[in-house]
Amino acid sequence: MEQIDIKGLEVSVNGKKVLNGVDISVQRGKIHVLMGPNGSGKSTLANVIMGNPKYIVNAGSIKFDNEDILKLKVNERAKKGIFLAFQEPVEISGVNTMNFLVTAHTNLKGKNPELRKEIIKKMGELNLSELFLKRSLNEGFSGGEKKRFELLQVMLLNPKIAILDEIDSGMDVDSVRLLGEITKKLSKDTGFLMITHNENILDYIKPDIVSIMKDGKIIRSGDYQLIEQIKKEGYKQLI
Ligand SMILES: Nc1ncnc2c1ncn2[C@@H]1O[C@H](COP(=O)(O)OP(=O)(O)O)[C@@H](O)[C@H]1O
Ligand SMILES: [Mg+2]
Repeated sequence: MEQIDIKGLEVSVNGKKVLNGVDISVQRGKIHVLMGPNGSGKSTLANVIMGNPKYIVNAGSIKFDNEDILKLKVNERAKKGIFLAFQEPVEISGVNTMNFLVTAHTNLKGKNPELRKEIIKKMGELNLSELFLKRSLNEGFSGGEKKRFELLQVMLLNPKIAILDEIDSGMDVDSVRLLGEITKKLSKDTGFLMITHNENILDYIKPDIVSIMKDGKIIRSGDYQLIEQIKKEGYKQLI
């Protein structure tokens, strides 16, 4: 089974211990929702899985397909089929959006003469105008537009495992519905680690697993009904 397996992960950033022994796995073809209060370490976990060198792994393991990936660089992990959609996508002045998408795709999946057409078709599904392709990546895009471009990359790159870090924040109701429907469709082939605060995502997807993180640890795991409980009672009752 293609999956990411994380055991006993301890991580620090700028000398601060942020993850204190995290066990979690993400399976291809399944949706794992990760929730939890602000500052509990969710984005840290996402960054460490992707291999951001700012984060120091002090203990534990991250395996993908039973292979230790901790020594791999970001681009090597991407080549293996791991993708991270950022909580705060950066604006990159001077990098043309179309060129960026074509380069990313070509690096990871090889040349595809139909790519332009495919990009435009998928942008249509996301209600994004073709005009964006002429602009600098993310520059002056609204919050929701940036998030839809992150989702576009998932649709184009077809990763084995996609980590979506609060991709639904800043999205309007219609875009959240679109996100839910697209994630559900893509999850036939891709495994998702979906970090979110949005309980309404349940209206569109029933995640296979829900985990709650607090103070750098997974404090609860269960099925989608855990979200119903959070919706009613908040995190405090669980903690
Ligand atoms: N670069 C950094 N330097 C110092 N502390 C950081 C850094 N990045 C994150 N942290 C701290 O680590 C904790 C977890 O942050 P984060 O992973 O962003 O949480 P979440 O995504 O769950 O809101 C927070 O207390 C945050 O302030
Ligand atoms: Mg975060």
